[in-house]
Amino acid sequence: MPIGANLISLPESGKTVCVTGAGGFIASWLVKLLLERGYTVRGTVRNPEDPKNAHLRELQGAEERLRLCRADLLDLDSLREAINGCDGVFHTASPVTDDPEAMLEPAQNGTKNVILAAAEAKCRRVVFTSTIGAVYMDPNRSPDVVVDESCWSDLEFCKRTKNWYCYGKVMAEKAAWDVAKEKGIDLVVVNPVLVLGPLLQPTVNASTVHILKYLTGAVKTYANSVQAYVHVKDVARAHLLVFETPSASGRYICAESMLHRGEVVEILAKLFPEYPIPTKCSDELNPRAKPYKFTVQKLKDLGMEFIPVKQCLYETVKSLQEKGHLPLPSLHL
Ligand SMILES: NC(=O)c1ccc[n+]([C@@H]2O[C@H](COP(=O)([O-])OP(=O)(O)OC[C@H]3O[C@@H](n4cnc5c(N)ncnc54)[C@H](OP(=O)(O)O)[C@@H]3O)[C@@H](O)[C@H]2O)c1
Repeated sequence: MPIGANLISLPESGKTVCVTGAGGFIASWLVKLLLERGYTVRGTVRNPEDPKNAHLRELQGAEERLRLCRADLLDLDSLREAINGCDGVFHTASPVTDDPEAMLEPAQNGTKNVILAAAEAKCRRVVFTSTIGAVYMDPNRSPDVVVDESCWSDLEFCKRTKNWYCYGKVMAEKAAWDVAKEKGIDLVVVNPVLVLGPLLQPTVNASTVHILKYLTGAVKTYANSVQAYVHVKDVARAHLLVFETPSASGRYICAESMLHRGEVVEILAKLFPEYPIPTKCSDELNPRAKPYKFTVQKLKDLGMEFIPVKQCLYETVKSLQEKGHLPLPSLHL
């Protein structure tokens, strides 16, 4: 029987939740999971008519239990309308850019607006999608320190390095905690690392470009740096887990493992040898960058298990091929 055909048997039938920025990469998987769990979902999008959101209507259960609501993060009334009557809110919408003009206001004030609307609607819990970028960007941290949920990125460092995405997300997460405290909202935050995996949406999002560029020949070398990765399905599951676990509180780092770019291109070249994957590091002078230590014990304690990064890389590339963003190897010559 298709999921959603018999609502009585679904664990969360009858509960309504809102997902902001529903058409995005992570939010689309979250909406899918919530519908599969039996929730009724209000998904905010800036333009419900835009074909880039059409995939949401194809999801199992969408016809009966998904409503797309037109809302902008900077328009409090539009958020009120979408959130009123919801048991919970997943605030996932955010610009993902280093352009300060586009990033800062929607990230910070948009987040305040979402928490305000959730407080007015007396929502049981808000889950905010922050990022590891609000956690680990601190040049003064000793390499022996294990990065956990008590760490915060250094705002001055983000500013100095013009990392406006991380700066904006720190400001957004801080705003979320402040407004939640002031309004008595139960807030839980997920801090994912770089998210990969199959796309549900028709367009390529920023974190997927991180891999796509190594396959198309767009870059000839790889950087001397490290990055932690997590599968998009795990990020969606983490959101659901912290929403549904009454004892969940505070922040949750969401990561599977960390790789040097050299390891990423090696895995890609083994899995997909037909593509022009770089073999040289752009920095041949300095020693190879070392991973920093981190823990995801807090999320594991809630029962979370992670999909291995190799599978994640494989599924990312397969999805890029299937969606027509990457020519199939035989056609690539
Ligand atoms: N992907 C990652 O590696 C990663 C890692 C850590 C954290 N995150 C966080 O996860 C969240 C989702 O990221 P994603 O990778 O799924 O990005 P995405 O695919 O670009 O989705 C972002 C969504 O936010 C919406 N949005 C942006 N500005 C908005 C505004 N002013 N009003 C209303 N909606 C707005 C976008 O809507 P439009 O389609 O209308 O532009 C889009 O649906 C973000 O908060 C991001 O910071 C992502």
